[in-house]
Amino acid sequence: MKTSRPLISVNNLRVGFPVYGGVLRQKTAEITAVDNISFSLNEGETLGIVGESGSGKTTVGRAIANLIQVFHSDVNLQGTIQLNIDDQSVNLNGLGQSAMKPYRHLIQMIFQDPYSSLNPRLNVREILERPLKIQTTLSQSDRLKRIVKILDDVGLQKDSMNRYPHEFSGGQRQRIGIARALTTRPKIIIADEPVSALDVSVQGQVINLMEELQQAFGLTYLFIAHDLSLVYHISDRIGVMYLGNIVELGDSKSVYHKPRHPYTQALLSAVPYPDPDKKHPERIRLVGDIPTPLNKPSGCSFHPRCPIAEHSCQIEVPKLIKHDGTSVACPYARS
Ligand SMILES: Nc1ncnc2c1ncn2[C@@H]1O[C@H](COP(=O)(O)OP(=O)(O)O)[C@@H](O)[C@H]1O
Ligand SMILES: [Mg+2]
Repeated sequence: MKTSRPLISVNNLRVGFPVYGGVLRQKTAEITAVDNISFSLNEGETLGIVGESGSGKTTVGRAIANLIQVFHSDVNLQGTIQLNIDDQSVNLNGLGQSAMKPYRHLIQMIFQDPYSSLNPRLNVREILERPLKIQTTLSQSDRLKRIVKILDDVGLQKDSMNRYPHEFSGGQRQRIGIARALTTRPKIIIADEPVSALDVSVQGQVINLMEELQQAFGLTYLFIAHDLSLVYHISDRIGVMYLGNIVELGDSKSVYHKPRHPYTQALLSAVPYPDPDKKHPERIRLVGDIPTPLNKPSGCSFHPRCPIAEHSCQIEVPKLIKHDGTSVACPYARS
């Protein structure tokens, strides 16, 4: 079930975290974690977000799930995050806890680390019941029915309910994390590197489960990862992030097989090439480390590491320009 209706439209999102210093712990600076972020999330699709650590993927996911606002009251959040549901359209940016209440159950997150994201003092029933208590008006018996059903949906035994997180393997714990995200019957799941912390042997099982659940419940995924081949496998479209900006956005096949931005090409060069009969495309190696947002390079922030940078790249901030179906933020990108 794939339609072109955007369920969420993000426009010019910017997130600035305060930096405190001095004896009075006053705000001395601001870290721009992400800037100029615009994209849509269509109903039933999977949009993959890929980029190195520190590129701002988690910040984008948490902003959409309205978690930044909850945990950082002093954050500077600009732009709009428009949720279009039924005949309503609401900007989630700026909604406080209570104004967000009617929408919170619709957008849920799966976190990277299934060890630290589950409270070790709660049993599985309590973990799954918590969002139902806070975000729905279901009676106790309806909550229990929902929990039993969801455990079955994610492939866990009914008696898992009375057990604690430490009694489960990593893969099973992530199934609990997925179940917790699904209890409120959301429409949108933000999956923040959901398999990065798992053994390679169970990663595939968790990905398959996520794909089955998407089909069964018509879910829309924002799937965050640093591994481009994993994102390619699961996504309909891919957005590539570098130092807080989207540098390339397009359908998965184009981004993976015909990467246009030099950063996307470099990310792909790092992926082991699967077909031994085909020659590996020319490798582009990234020089140096990703800079921090506090000393972001001028112009195109990728220019110090870019193999095709020209002088103008130090001055001009490139805009995302559409080439066929793909948008690329580089005037020298291959067409
Ligand atoms: N709460 C915070 N306070 C200050 N800086 C933050 C905070 N959260 C993230 N950042 C900074 O924002 C940038 C993007 O981080 P993040 O979104 O976690 O990237 P990613 O998920 O791609 O690794 C990083 O430089 C990070 O240090
Ligand atoms: Mg992250």
